Amino acid sequence: MEFEFDWEANEEKVKELKIFMEENKRKKGALIAVLHEAQDLFGYLPIEIQKMISEELKVPLSEIYGVATFYSHFSLIPKGEYKIGVCLGTACYVKGAQEILDKVEKTLGITVGQTTPDRKFSISATRCLGACGLAPVLMINGDVYGRLKPGDVEEILNKYR
Ligand code: FES
Repeated sequence: MEFEFDWEANEEKVKELKIFMEENKRKKGALIAVLHEAQDLFGYLPIEIQKMISEELKVPLSEIYGVATFYSHFSLIPKGEYKIGVCLGTACYVKGAQEILDKVEKTLGITVGQTTPDRKFSISATRCLGACGLAPVLMINGDVYGRLKPGDVEEILNKYR
């Protein structure tokens, strides 16, 4: 799924990034520093911005893509307004976390690592959230939901729609 970058709405942030690139492009490790700045400014690394960085720093797009996909800190797609984390830690897994995840994916029509086209929800699989007593657990932004059954998922998601 392609998310189009809104240049107009992000005008100020783009300016900020350009200044940052200008100040840092001759320094060692400039690429990582610039990608961090872009990730912080936009919440992800839009392809349009990757191309701009590529031209400005004279680094091939393929190298940017390589770095962006290597470090989990970087994201190539925008995260949703509501970030759903389904715990796949051991305690949750043995209590049926996979079924919970399947149900979340099916209900939203996206898979782990994706964001709904309206940018409302994104799903990730997480490690232990430290609430094993409540397994299986899922988290939506700061809210924790535990002792889940697949049948609970729809009602929980409806609260955020
Ligand atoms: S394994 Fe899921 S909260 Fe610990």
